[in-house]
Amino acid sequence: MKKILVTGGCGYIGSHTIINLINNGYALVSIDDLSNSKADVTNKIKAITGVDIKNYVVDLKNVDATRQVFVAEGPFDGIIHFAASKLVGESVSHPLSYFQNNLLGLLNLLACMQEFDVDKLIFSSSCSVYGNATELPVTEMTPRQEAESPYARTKQIGEDILHDISVHQKKIKTVLLRYFNPAGAHESGLIGEDPSNKASNLVPVITETAIGKRERMVVFGDDYQTRDGSCIRDYIHVMDLAAAHTKAMEYLLNGQNQDYCEIFNLGIGEGVTVLEAIHAFEAITEQKLNYSIGPRRDGDVESIYANYEKARTVLGWSPERSIEDIMRSAWVWEQNRSRKS
Ligand code: WQD
Repeated sequence: MKKILVTGGCGYIGSHTIINLINNGYALVSIDDLSNSKADVTNKIKAITGVDIKNYVVDLKNVDATRQVFVAEGPFDGIIHFAASKLVGESVSHPLSYFQNNLLGLLNLLACMQEFDVDKLIFSSSCSVYGNATELPVTEMTPRQEAESPYARTKQIGEDILHDISVHQKKIKTVLLRYFNPAGAHESGLIGEDPSNKASNLVPVITETAIGKRERMVVFGDDYQTRDGSCIRDYIHVMDLAAAHTKAMEYLLNGQNQDYCEIFNLGIGEGVTVLEAIHAFEAITEQKLNYSIGPRRDGDVESIYANYEKARTVLGWSPERSIEDIMRSAWVWEQNRSRKS
C-alpha cells in the first residue's frame, strides 16, 4: 500500500483529498498545526471512511519537529503539500507572516524530502498566480501577471522554488495544481469549509447569511464589465478538486510525468458571476438571500476562469459537479455546522 504524507490534512481541501485517497487504497499520514483547522476532522474522516488517520500537530516552520514525522512515519511514496495561510485580505495586513509561513514551511518540507529521499510532491497553488489574466479562459501557458496580494506572491514564489529545484537537480518530480475557487462540502455533510476565523470566501459568506450568522452580505461591486456587473469566478466543487489530487499522485507514482515540474489548472471551465452564484443558492434552497450591493473590494480581479483541457487529457480528470451541487452541499454543511456550534 503506497503511503502519502499530506500537510494541512485537517484543512478544507486536505481532508477531502485524504478521503479520496483512502477510497483509492492509499495509506495516509497528516501534518497539520491546527492554526486554521480542527483536530476533530480526523474523527469525521474515520466516520466517513472507517479509517484512522494520524495527524501530527506540527508547524512546518519547525524543521526539527517536521523531520521527526519523517523519522517516525517514513518512508513516504509521495507528499501533497496543502499547509499554508490562504486568506488574501489577511496577507495584505500581515505579509511577513505569510512569507514566513508559506515559504519557510515549503523550504523545510523540501529539506526533509532531500534528507529522506522522497521524490514526488504535489503543490497546492492557485489561480491567483495569474493576477489580472490577459486572456480568458486561462491556460497553463497564460503568462502570470503581477501578484495582486502577498498570498498570491507566496504561491508564485513557491512555484518558482519548486520549478528550479526539480528542473535543475532532476531528482524530485513536482506537480503544481492551480486551484480556481474551491467551494462546497462533502456529500456526507460531515466536513466542509470550516474557517477558524470569520469566513471571507463567497460561498461560506452566502451560507452564513442564509442561516442567520450574518444579517446581510455585501456584493463587492456590480459595475464591472461583465454580463451583470459582478465579478466572474470559476467555482470548483471540493470533491472534484480532491479527485484531481489522487489523479495527479497516480500520475507521478506511475512515472507518467513528462517533465520534472508540471502545472495543471483545476477549474470547471465555466465563469459564474457573484449574482449568479447568489441566485443559484436561492433556487436550490428556495429562500431569498439578504444582500446589498457595495463598493468593489481591493485586489479583486474582474473575471477569471479556467481552461482545464490539460488536466483532462493528461491526468484523465474532469469535474463532475456544478454550482448547484456546490450550493446544495454547502447549505447542508452550514446547517450541520451551525447545529454543532
Ligand atoms: C469571490 C468573488 C468577491 C465575498 C480567493 C483567493 C483564491 C482562493 C479562493 C485559496 C469575488 C465576491 C466575496 C463577499 C462578494 N483561495 N465576494 N462578497 O477572492 O476570488 O479567491 O479565494 O485557494 O486563491 O484569491 O474568492 O470567495 O473571496 O471572492 O461579493 O462577501 O465573490 O468580490 O468577486 P477570490 P472570494
